[in-house]
Amino acid sequence: MKITIIGTGYVGLVTGACLAELGNDVFCLDLDQAKIAMLNGGGIPIHEPGLAEIVSRNRAAGRLHFSTDIAASVAHGQVQFIAVGTPPDEDGSADLQYVLAAARNIGKHMTGFKVIVDKSTVPVGTADRVSAAIQEELDARKPGSEEIQFSVVSNPEFLKEGAAVEDFMRPDRIVIGCDESAAGQQAQALMKQLYLPFNRNHERTFWMDVRSAEFTKYAANAMLATRISFMNELANLADKVGADIEAVRHGIGSDPRIGYSFLYAGCGYGGSCFPKDVQALERTARTYGQELHILRAVEQVNNNQKHVLGQKIGERFGADLSGKHFALWGLAFKPNTDDMREASSRVLLGELIARGATVAVHDPVAMTEAKRVLALDLAATPGAFGRIRFCDNQTDALQDADALVIVTEWKTFRSPDFEQVKTLLKTPIVFDGRNLYEPEVMGDQGFEYYGIGRSV
Ligand code: NAD
Ligand code: UGA
Repeated sequence: MKITIIGTGYVGLVTGACLAELGNDVFCLDLDQAKIAMLNGGGIPIHEPGLAEIVSRNRAAGRLHFSTDIAASVAHGQVQFIAVGTPPDEDGSADLQYVLAAARNIGKHMTGFKVIVDKSTVPVGTADRVSAAIQEELDARKPGSEEIQFSVVSNPEFLKEGAAVEDFMRPDRIVIGCDESAAGQQAQALMKQLYLPFNRNHERTFWMDVRSAEFTKYAANAMLATRISFMNELANLADKVGADIEAVRHGIGSDPRIGYSFLYAGCGYGGSCFPKDVQALERTARTYGQELHILRAVEQVNNNQKHVLGQKIGERFGADLSGKHFALWGLAFKPNTDDMREASSRVLLGELIARGATVAVHDPVAMTEAKRVLALDLAATPGAFGRIRFCDNQTDALQDADALVIVTEWKTFRSPDFEQVKTLLKTPIVFDGRNLYEPEVMGDQGFEYYGIGRSV
């Protein structure tokens, strides 16, 4: 099938590459010329396990093309995926300017029936706005264009960064919302055909109306974010009452009604999705006169949780950290990605530096992106960026630090040579924002250890 993907970011690039891998002929469009030039030169703009191989294989096979040519891209695909960003607006609602611009471009250039797929995470009702934008463009063209048929479907994406290829290729569900019109039925048939390879052994598609599909995406992210904030709040209480949140996690996760996933307490959730999607859903509710009290608390708990390591450090070393030096392992918002969007490390670094400390940092893949983002974060305070030393490996970062602080649970941090860690640190103190280690074992090895909710 001929497919066009509009927006070649995390979702667009993974979707395009994976659909090409299944034999489709895919055009990926982006307005970012540097990104398209990089992809056409054989580079990959993001770190995502397995992606480079799929992109290179399918480019070589002539099934995957990258372009900045809007007209040619719209002409190519029978199915047009919109996978552009939906960042938060000033008031927290989803900014739809990129989605609607993509829709208008489709309306300007389409010459025959198209299925337009909203893959971006968009508020309920967006498909109607996308339809209206396309129709407006058709109406503005030469007479007869207004008759061109199309259908907008909602097909939200549930992949996780760091496991995006695996998640896309082996989805636990495919949600598709179509309308009942003749064009909607035609769209449904095409979507069925496109997703057939994912459904061969087991039907994974949930067909529903468009608004329910749009809503499902926000409901899923809001539920996951809620579980995390709930555990984080319990972990903070566990610290006070002398309980171990990890033991509690096992104890409750064994109940199949609760389950083990997404119950890890830590130094807050980040990324491009949970923070913005929780806010956007709250915003949607407010425009309908409803307050989502739980989600407001989820957001508030998470904002506070990003300060939890800073608080623990303050309790141990005092509020003034002048002359103190810390080693920080992990900058990305989660392992296996170089994405720094809403990463907890940014809040912690801002705090440590504002309180007078210097920090030596290491992340296995996010160093370049971290330098870019932190330079912007700290631009307002002269000299602040210079208080961060970027280290090529995790061992170098430890030298003479007053403590090691862990923010991201990269595998390579799980089993370090603890004797070496102890020797390199000035004092054997570890603040573990992801509960990678066992408090008892750390104590036996001579470390002063602070986890999240593990003060048994
Ligand atoms: P991203 O910022 O990585 O990529 C968006 C891309 O769209 C950029 O390259 C940008 O240049 C391009 N773009 C913007 N306007 C365009 C236009 N009119 N025409 C062509 N290209 C245009 O974004 P992302 O992380 O891939 O997220 C995209 C959407 O998918 C968001 O709504 C997000 O919430 C959702 N989502 C993201 C993830 C994730 O893990 N990142 C997972 C599921 C859903
Ligand atoms: C999340 C969802 O998991 C995806 O299903 C969804 O498609 C995506 O958002 C999206 O809509 O963009 P992602 O943000 O890539 O995916 O990463 P997650 O693995 O969900 O982690 C998000 C944050 O939560 C990370 O900072 C992680 O450290 C934190 N987290 C996760 C916890 O603190 N505890 C947990 O138990 C799990």
